[in-house]
Amino acid sequence: MSIFPKLRMRRLRATESLRRMVRETRLSVDDLIYPLFVVPGTNVRQEISSLPGCYHLSVDRLVEECKEVRDLGIPGVLLFGIPENKDAVGSGAYAEEGIVQRACAALANEVNTGAPDAHVEIVTDVCLCEYTDHGHCGPVCQGVVQNDEALELLTRVAVSHVRAGATMVAPSDMMDGRVAAIRAGLDDAGFENTPIMAYSAKYASGYYGPFREAADSAPQFGDRRSYQMDPANALEALEEVRLDVEEGADIVMVKPALAYMDIIWRVRERFGRPVAAYNVSGEYAMVKAAAAREWIDEKRIVLETLTGFRRAGADIILTYSAKDAAKWLA
Ligand code: PBG
Ligand code: ZN
Repeated sequence: MSIFPKLRMRRLRATESLRRMVRETRLSVDDLIYPLFVVPGTNVRQEISSLPGCYHLSVDRLVEECKEVRDLGIPGVLLFGIPENKDAVGSGAYAEEGIVQRACAALANEVNTGAPDAHVEIVTDVCLCEYTDHGHCGPVCQGVVQNDEALELLTRVAVSHVRAGATMVAPSDMMDGRVAAIRAGLDDAGFENTPIMAYSAKYASGYYGPFREAADSAPQFGDRRSYQMDPANALEALEEVRLDVEEGADIVMVKPALAYMDIIWRVRERFGRPVAAYNVSGEYAMVKAAAAREWIDEKRIVLETLTGFRRAGADIILTYSAKDAAKWLA
């Protein structure tokens, strides 16, 4: 027996004040992290063709951008570096004067100068693929990406970032054991209070296409399927998250986000750590392309999508739409 007409679901949808009152999920600027690409040189602010509205920024222009990000109330940025030179081991990734290291120092000295509560978190992507001439996320021997050798390099990268001023590190390589290795390396260097946001369930995805153009990090042979996850697997994602939590991850990430909402939900249900969702480059580029043709309303689509990530259980959302969303939510 239906309780209609006693119960009418539409009663609580009649006005915006009612809808606000019963809204289950909130999206706030507090949830956002804005990814940025830093390049050599000065006074560079070059729009990235595959990511309209995002820019390659030299350190001086990055400082400017991060002040704007901070003033919009976005609590963190995620830095990617495009180095001058690449080599077999990606040594530019851990160079003392490397591009991300210089960026971190500048942000620490020129942006985070006020009270600590007004800082923007300087999160760095820790990986080698932008810095290796073969474009893989670890050193290669006879065509195979070497796990344990990568750990040592990734640890050096993470420590060098934090030494330069990074306030959080985000390993994105998907090597086994990297969270434990980086945690130990940070602790040894006296950075036991610096958090790790692990790209825990990172899938081998076609949605990274625009990013690889932006970061010049496409693998020169083969693909990343020997280290990133098979899109068909969910139980394996939970295992990856469990391992990262055991190894000391403070925040766990699911990436990409849109096609993996079920994974976000399952991770949120099972683990006590904050969950981040990475709304990746291909997801952003599709929205931009359709919006440019006026097929969709960008603001509406973006806010609906970001709310969806929150409803699925994401505490933190990494998105190229962060600045727009911050303005729309203000
Ligand atoms: C580097 C890295 C990638 C992304 C973040 N860190 C690319 C990849 O794994 O190939 C993708 C980000 C995006 O597509 O927005 N390992
Ligand atoms: Zn990589």
